[in-house]
Amino acid sequence: MSISVAIDGPAGAGKSTIAKILAKKLGFVYVDTGAMYRAMGYYFSRNGIDKDDFASMSARCEEADIEIRYAEGEQQVFLNGENVNGKIRTEEAGLMASACARNGDVREKLVELQRALAKKTDVVMDGRDIGTNVLPGADVKVYLTASVQTRAKRRFEELRGKGVSCLMAEVEKDIIARDRQDMNREIAPLKQAEDAVLVDSSDLTIEEVVEKICRLIDKGGKN
Ligand code: CDP
Repeated sequence: MSISVAIDGPAGAGKSTIAKILAKKLGFVYVDTGAMYRAMGYYFSRNGIDKDDFASMSARCEEADIEIRYAEGEQQVFLNGENVNGKIRTEEAGLMASACARNGDVREKLVELQRALAKKTDVVMDGRDIGTNVLPGADVKVYLTASVQTRAKRRFEELRGKGVSCLMAEVEKDIIARDRQDMNREIAPLKQAEDAVLVDSSDLTIEEVVEKICRLIDKGGKN
């Protein structure tokens, strides 16, 4: 049986940074499920589908063949054969991902892909519903969060680092909008699983968070 570590939490909590380091340390595969929703959102945007047009999303999500490959340990997302990794990292793509993640048919398709990956190999998987829905039997579950201000500041610096010009207030507004949408949707909303351990990273360094989760893993997922 393969081993899984589930890391859920809101935007900017540090999930992907932490999950990547952990996966490397453990020799597991890192699965970024948000990238799959981003690729799906990107497909819809490119085809002129509105963020509230659920009927078209349901009808057309099967046209989007989303595939995960690994190049030198890094996850690459392919949409109908095209590597879209570089194109899905904008704030706009994040909001579109969050919009299409409310659709049950989109979720069904992507959850199936996520479960298949976790069945095949040991994974550190991050997202919004991994511990609650995708892998309810995960060996270790972490709910990683931080204050809105901290998360907005991190996202702002990340975007600036990539040369994207943005305003702090705008980034904070997007984070709040995405939190609201993710926590209040009907299907698989973002929430802490009952058996997940809460880690607030507001005042912790990356190393401290990694250390905390490693200790948790050593103890079999119990705090
Ligand atoms: O990296 P960041 O936290 O900004 O977002 P992401 O992990 O790339 O996810 C983008 C969006 O996809 C989220 O805002 C969620 O709405 C959705 N998502 C989801 O519904 N379920 C998941 N397991 C992962 C992402």
